[in-house]
Amino acid sequence: MGLELFDTHAHLDDDRLREQLSEVLVRAGAAGVIEIVTIATTAHSSAVCVALAGHHPQLSASVGIHPNHAAEAADADWDKVASLVDRPEVVAIGETGLDRHWDFTPFAVQEDYFARHLDLARRCGKPVVIHCREAEADVLRMLCDDHARHGPIRGVMHSFTGVWATAEACLAMGLHVSFAGMVTYKNAQDLRDVAAKVPLERMLVETDSPYLSPVPLRGKVNEPAHVVHTAACLAGVVGLQPEVFARQTTSNARALFGRK
Ligand code: NI
Repeated sequence: MGLELFDTHAHLDDDRLREQLSEVLVRAGAAGVIEIVTIATTAHSSAVCVALAGHHPQLSASVGIHPNHAAEAADADWDKVASLVDRPEVVAIGETGLDRHWDFTPFAVQEDYFARHLDLARRCGKPVVIHCREAEADVLRMLCDDHARHGPIRGVMHSFTGVWATAEACLAMGLHVSFAGMVTYKNAQDLRDVAAKVPLERMLVETDSPYLSPVPLRGKVNEPAHVVHTAACLAGVVGLQPEVFARQTTSNARALFGRK
């Protein structure tokens, strides 16, 4: 039996992937990618992701509004996201979080939306997908606050690039840690050292496609099939055969997202 991988974070509604989706999914299947969560970034994207998941059995969807899109969201957009959460195709809430790299959305608005997503995820019993860019202290502050009030948080720190102390704090609150193509970059030894310390049963892999293609495809449009390179790199980091690493991370993702 070959690899069985679960790409926990792909933006298949992005034009670069959606316009050639059947080929993208064939290549993913050929590479051993048996499950993909297509991750929403806006209310419209949430509806598209749910529709895509309805058409393709290997896909499931998240619904949510990305921090960089929160400024352009109207009240009706949030209502639309909330109206989709109980759909059977929906396995996660997000992506949400905080981003100080871009300033598309005032920080207080990002915080408001992050809090809304955390609350919505708890109410519907689905895991939350967290984006954190140059905002580790702020994300930790809000997660610690939520954890202090409500207890363990089900979800994932997606495309993790932070330091071990941040990963450790997130793991202690119950979160999973997911790595994308950046962990394969030559200059990313610090991140590989962090990955080596994450308990295997709490680790996930993802592409974050169409962004962040892993080595040796860096610079190309990323797609779910490319997760094999990230998984191979991480298997080496933790000292496991790729098949064993794939089996464990796929089992982690299935349990987190409730996919049998
Ligand atoms: Ni993303």
